Amino acid sequence: MKDIKDIYILSIETSCDETSIAIVKNGNEVIALTILSQIDTHANFGGVVPEIASRMHTENITMVLEETLRKAKMKVSDCNAIAVTSTPGLLGSLLVGVEFAKVLSYVYDLPLIQVNHLIGHIYANKIGDKLKFPSLALIISGGHTELVKMTGDYEFEMLGETQDDAIGEAFDKVARVIGLKYPGGPNIEKLAKEGNNNYKLPKMANDESYNFSYSGLKSSVINLVNNEKNKGREINKADLACSFQITAVEELTRKLEKALIETKIKNVIIAGGVSANKYLREEIKKMCDKYDANLNLPEFIYCTDNAAMIGAAAYPLYLKKDFADLDLNAKSSSNIC
Ligand code: KG4
Ligand code: ZN
Repeated sequence: MKDIKDIYILSIETSCDETSIAIVKNGNEVIALTILSQIDTHANFGGVVPEIASRMHTENITMVLEETLRKAKMKVSDCNAIAVTSTPGLLGSLLVGVEFAKVLSYVYDLPLIQVNHLIGHIYANKIGDKLKFPSLALIISGGHTELVKMTGDYEFEMLGETQDDAIGEAFDKVARVIGLKYPGGPNIEKLAKEGNNNYKLPKMANDESYNFSYSGLKSSVINLVNNEKNKGREINKADLACSFQITAVEELTRKLEKALIETKIKNVIIAGGVSANKYLREEIKKMCDKYDANLNLPEFIYCTDNAAMIGAAAYPLYLKKDFADLDLNAKSSSNIC
């Protein structure tokens, strides 16, 4: 029997290549979560093919709902609201989730909640844990690299963002250049363990902002690979993966450290797919320990795209009755604030 005061949110995430539905209780307890990944299909093309992604969401979303309800032993009508990622992401993919959520909201007469995917990544840290404020939140995903100051639930102030490529995008492109499969991030991490930091890659310009830049690092790896190829020399892929990973993570820790010193904030939240990288987690932990800062890292299952984080992020909106209308539309690009 469910307690009357408990709030159950049925949440939907289809922004890229995962069809995911969850039921989340009171914003921090996952009752059931299903993630159907399309990675194997897209890996054949070296990256996500948007048209295929939306078709696969359409084919699978009802089955993912059934599976989630079966695991939770609940019906849609047992839930208190329907939440969905409406931005940012691939437009065709987002539309499948948004339309599905609107139909459920209409048929079951449940409030509809729209969630920003990046805010979802931040709230992945609230599952089984607490968010402490003020906090410095670092979002590191396939499409975004943002450093944000968070003073409370849904209170954000942008400190810095990437001026070109996102960190995950750089991992994926570098992986492709050295012949690793999509998604590149986990494959670079695996290969880097077998290598040493033997390649000298340029550090990013040491400007005084909190902004990031990853295109220079990415280009220098591509140029290095091409130059060696032209000279008929083999590159050591493991060493290059290792050097790239170290340089990419150094840029993050350097800017985060600057923000810790300058803002004197003692809480750090890491969010987004790249936060699954163990080397990165260790380096950020070491740096936070140096400043006695409390560090929130998502559990591995909640690092990459999943609907549980959308349910967690929807909860404060449910409490504020911040509901969306049935003319809700998807939007491909947006930042946190
Ligand atoms: O958050 P996410 O699942 O999707 C977006 O919102 O973009 O992030 C996906 C990104 C991809 O670029 C992927 O290569 C990267 O996260 N990623 C990793 C690791 N696992 C996923 N990057 C580095 N190391 C990992 N272990
Ligand atoms: Zn994501």
